[in-house]
Amino acid sequence: MARRNEIAWYEPFWSELGDESILHPGHFTKLKPSIGKEVFAEFLKQNQITGKSLDIGCGNARHSIMLAKQGFETHGFDISESAIETAKQKVKDAGLEVKLFVDSSLDFKSDVLFDVIVDAGCFHHLLPKEHEVYIDNILKISKKGTMFYLSTFSTNTGFVQGTYPKTEKIIKAEKTGLYNHFFSDKDITNLFDKQFHIHKLAEYDKILTPFVFKYAIMERK
Ligand SMILES: C[S@@+](CC[C@H](N)C(=O)[O-])C[C@H]1O[C@@H](n2cnc3c(N)ncnc32)[C@H](O)[C@@H]1O
Repeated sequence: MARRNEIAWYEPFWSELGDESILHPGHFTKLKPSIGKEVFAEFLKQNQITGKSLDIGCGNARHSIMLAKQGFETHGFDISESAIETAKQKVKDAGLEVKLFVDSSLDFKSDVLFDVIVDAGCFHHLLPKEHEVYIDNILKISKKGTMFYLSTFSTNTGFVQGTYPKTEKIIKAEKTGLYNHFFSDKDITNLFDKQFHIHKLAEYDKILTPFVFKYAIMERK
């Protein structure tokens, strides 16, 4: 399924800006892992979790690189072709190996059952009616004990792009029609706690961006 809105919005970031851009240092086009991922990396180390990992909506592969450095056989995909081109270059520059390909979170299929799955900032672009398909896909590629890291926009975000997410959960970017969905703790719990044990549900505040991010570290039951 082609996801035109996501591609229209993200392609310019990956094809024109990349990490050479003037965007703030915590932006997803930069290579440093975002804050929640550092907590997750530590969680994986402490719990001695190893094996195969998947980075959904991997962008420039900053989190794939983090996982590959930690010893995971790492796979990553993104809907944007330019993101995957950038990701391949970044992985090569880092002297690592990651299996990278173009795909969509709603279509992705794999025979591999992953030990770790990461989605940093991709799930929140789906429409509510698509959440079930996404979760079904995650269930098909995971097993009991799989660790799943998810970060999304939070309903505690303030004023963004002319809309108050507290009152209008979905905002639509003016030009591309990209959807942003804002999640509360209750939303995350309602969506995932039947199939996952939620180890941690936390937020990190707007550092240099107007968005507040929520992240969950979950384990497949
Ligand atoms: C905010 S960026 C985050 C990138 C990366 N996860 C990170 O944290 O650096 C979201 C990424 O998800 C990708 N994306 C959006 N919708 C997608 C979908 N349905 N399937 C796969 N990738 C998608 C975008 O192209 C973009 O690279």
